[in-house]
Amino acid sequence: MRVTAAVLLCFVFSAGARARVTSSEVRAIVVEPLTEPVSHAEGPHWQAPYLYYLDVFSGSPLLRLDTTSGRVERWTVPPGNVPVALAVPIAGDEGRLLLSRGRELVEFDLLTSEVVATYGVADEDKPGNRFNDGKADPAGRLWAGTMGPDNLRNKVVPDQGSLFLLDANGLTAKVSEVDISNGIAWNSGHNLMYYIDTPTGKVDVFDYDLVTASITNRRTVIDFVAQNVTCEPDGMTIDADDFLWVACWNGWQVVRVDPALGQVVSQVSLPVQYVTSMAWGGANFDDLYVTSSKGGLTPEEILLQPYAGSVFKVSGLGVNGVPSNLITRPF
Ligand SMILES: *[C@@H]1O[C@H](CO)[C@@H](O)[C@H](O)[C@H]1NC(C)=O
Repeated sequence: MRVTAAVLLCFVFSAGARARVTSSEVRAIVVEPLTEPVSHAEGPHWQAPYLYYLDVFSGSPLLRLDTTSGRVERWTVPPGNVPVALAVPIAGDEGRLLLSRGRELVEFDLLTSEVVATYGVADEDKPGNRFNDGKADPAGRLWAGTMGPDNLRNKVVPDQGSLFLLDANGLTAKVSEVDISNGIAWNSGHNLMYYIDTPTGKVDVFDYDLVTASITNRRTVIDFVAQNVTCEPDGMTIDADDFLWVACWNGWQVVRVDPALGQVVSQVSLPVQYVTSMAWGGANFDDLYVTSSKGGLTPEEILLQPYAGSVFKVSGLGVNGVPSNLITRPF
């Protein structure tokens, strides 16, 4: 999709109308749709020059945007009818990614379009569950969580999911009674792991031990309801100042959170209701790539949100991001 200057100007203006940031910040921020909309874009991961992302419920759920040319490629993940909600490239092994496939974690080869290994099955007693969001930690292990049945997120069966660790010892459940496991991020000191279980409306944090991957002392960093912020927290990333960026499902925005204050310090509006996740990219890791969903929008509502399901680039934030971690073998 080619985006015209008129569209960009419109988005900057719209961001200024909604964002509670200073006027100098607003003028600099550009929100640009980069891709044709899909149904439910999630899980972005930038690895130069590509942005990997998922169209979770699609028959060909793995997508890759070449951020230089704008070209998008798609892959079917056999057998082709199972939700794929996370994709993290494997370090030193070009064309190999760790993916979720329903309740499984698998390795996928981009060249052959084949699943070449399976690394574990979650929630074997709960066939209606599936993996949702997941991220590699700074040591290259995978943390990924599940959710109960139902894709309409606010009606998911509660407490059915868990948060899992995949490392050299295999797949281990670390947190139980999760509703919708979502965003995960680590601070630059690698001693904190931030975590979102969407229906709680909160971002929580654990003390993190990078050597043992143990998580302890869970507590709440921010409660968006108590803070009057319109945000059902979904995906999350962190910046070089150790401030959190949270995608707001049903919130038309992404927010930047100061975890020490437990407050939103800036908000960036997007022209879509269902914002799902984010990843930093670009040569200086200062562009924020943001995914979005059509959610349960009616055809009439989609006419008013023509970019619902697109990937956006937010530039001019004046914030330095950090690269997303890769998976490191063995796991
Ligand atoms: C949220 O709104 C309520 C009702 O207007 C108000 O009493 C409360 O102080 C607000 N909280 C914050 C953190 O702004």
